[in-house]
Amino acid sequence: MNPTIIYYFTGTGNSLAVARKIAEDTNAELIGIPAALKNPRPIPKGASVGIVYPLYAGGLPGIVVRFLKSISLADAGYVFFVATEGGRMGAPTSQISRLAKAAGHELNASWWIQMPDNYIPLSAPPAVPEQKKMFEDAKNKAAAIAQAVNNRQEHKEGMCFSGKLMGLAYGPFIKSLPASDKKFTVSANCTKCGICVSVCPADNIRLHEHGKHEWLHQCEGCLACLHYCPEEAINIGKKTELRPRYRHPKSAVSDMKQQKGD
Ligand SMILES: Cc1cc2nc3c(=O)[nH]c(=O)nc-3n(C[C@H](O)[C@H](O)[C@H](O)COP(=O)(O)O)c2cc1C
Ligand code: SF4
Ligand code: SF4
Repeated sequence: MNPTIIYYFTGTGNSLAVARKIAEDTNAELIGIPAALKNPRPIPKGASVGIVYPLYAGGLPGIVVRFLKSISLADAGYVFFVATEGGRMGAPTSQISRLAKAAGHELNASWWIQMPDNYIPLSAPPAVPEQKKMFEDAKNKAAAIAQAVNNRQEHKEGMCFSGKLMGLAYGPFIKSLPASDKKFTVSANCTKCGICVSVCPADNIRLHEHGKHEWLHQCEGCLACLHYCPEEAINIGKKTELRPRYRHPKSAVSDMKQQKGD
């Protein structure tokens, strides 16, 4: 029996929850993309390889693109991608197809799943009852995806019109993310607990002894620091100050550390 490996990237646990459900139903090994970048391992011959990621401006997060450029998929037997996203835009299947092909394998399947929107610089996350409905629907779609993966089905979901429009902003948006941390502020509520440092998948935050945060401008824009801060002390300009924080209820600080191999 060929093994299944699922690589995931997550900022607030949505993609991890989906990756976990698919892994459970396919008996797959789960590996965080930040950890895989630090400790590269070849793909076993004939393996089914999955990538689960959050949609960013209608495309793949920068770290997922870098990961795909760093691995060879030539030995894989089946390659699939699953996006989680706050809207209902679809999957950036043409971007994924190009990257999979360049890594050595045709794309076999691409799906998307709606989850609560964590991008609070733009809007508040959905209310809790709406979140619960999304989790239920997401679990059902992840179970159906797992069955398709077990059968190595071909399946391609594309982008809707608004997703394609958003895709026009993708390049400049992704380029702006590493230095987007220049807009982050830390309020006097900070207790210097260090959680923001622990959860950051890009190792982009240093907390100095005197309590000052240093941002290293290699930000992925995932917003984990902002959503996991127990004091809600991290903000992006004024817009996020009055908006509730969000994280998937089954995602703990320890999961975020595990994603990067800590
Ligand atoms: C930088 C950034 C950009 C995003 N862009 C989009 C987008 O274009 N379309 C969308 O539907 N959701 C977008 N979102 C929302 C996330 O894709 C969504 O909440 C996802 O499920 C988060 O997954 P995670 O918890 O695994 O990080 C964006 C979130 C972030 C942080
Ligand atoms: S997580 Fe919040 S309270 Fe803890 S060190 Fe970071 S900013 Fe301060
Ligand atoms: S600094 Fe914050 S937003 Fe940027 S990568 Fe780290 S956790 Fe994500």
